[in-house]
Amino acid sequence: MKKILIVGAGGQIGSELTTYLRSIYGDANVVASDMRESKALGEAGPFELLDALDAKAYAGIVSKYKIDSIFNLVALLSATGEKIPQKAWEINIGALMNSLEIARENNCALFTPSSIGAFGPSTPKDKTPQDTLMRPTTIYGVCKVTGELLGDYYHTRFGVDTRSVRFPGLISSLTLPGGGTTDYAVEIFYDAVKTGRFACPIPGDVYMDMMYMPDALNACVQLMETDPARLVHRNAFNITSMSFTPEILAAEIRKHMPDFEMTYRIDPVKEGIARSWPDSMDDACARREWDWAPTWDLASMTADMLRNVERKHREGKV
Ligand code: SER
Repeated sequence: MKKILIVGAGGQIGSELTTYLRSIYGDANVVASDMRESKALGEAGPFELLDALDAKAYAGIVSKYKIDSIFNLVALLSATGEKIPQKAWEINIGALMNSLEIARENNCALFTPSSIGAFGPSTPKDKTPQDTLMRPTTIYGVCKVTGELLGDYYHTRFGVDTRSVRFPGLISSLTLPGGGTTDYAVEIFYDAVKTGRFACPIPGDVYMDMMYMPDALNACVQLMETDPARLVHRNAFNITSMSFTPEILAAEIRKHMPDFEMTYRIDPVKEGIARSWPDSMDDACARREWDWAPTWDLASMTADMLRNVERKHREGKV
């Protein structure tokens, strides 16, 4: 990767991936793009306003900067997708198809994240294998499975260097996620710091895989930099670093804030989605094929999140 384009750079992953990639590959070599203006993304390196559904504008940016690697991070998340499924398909698959075609025409490598959302209720729940039944029941998941299949198709049919991971819920303190089923695991920290309490939309006993953002950023780079000869799989690798329920997360927060209180205000849509996803994925293939190894666990992530959100709160930023 020498000249990188991030599409959807203003979102939860993109806002941190931009800074991370710029620190590795140089500010001028990482172009951030988003459909909304962003002062922060344009401060250190190039920024372009881009609606990823506009193929002509997208291709123009790729040739303007002589891009060789694209990170397509455009997506409506799972809970939002259930409110507007047709729109979710249009955006998620529209951005993906443009990315695949532009990668094919310009000989670019392409990373598009998949998700635990690619799995469904008939998937084995514990230690979910890399290769298994995938019958998701959300439009988000249908888009993710489609994306995995298209990624592999573009690789075998046209030789495009497509690679992907199935991200679990991503926890971070810079940019809030929006409209996802796993968002509670971020929101809980903000409410804990601001009010000492949190009304959880997911039942206390539902396990989901999660990951702290620094591990997710590292996964993107590590996978894209791996010698392709080692890759048996491509789209997409199971990766995880922790699996917990809301009860377990609340207990961990109480180690730092003994008075923290959690109540429940269950969102039935999110509950249904959460129950349809794996409890914990088996990421052995990623470990074997590209040396995936997370460095953050529940205890270290919780301590770091509380530190960061408390700082933001003290500075009046949240
Ligand atoms: N975080 C996503 C969601 O909850 C899953 O990939 O929709």
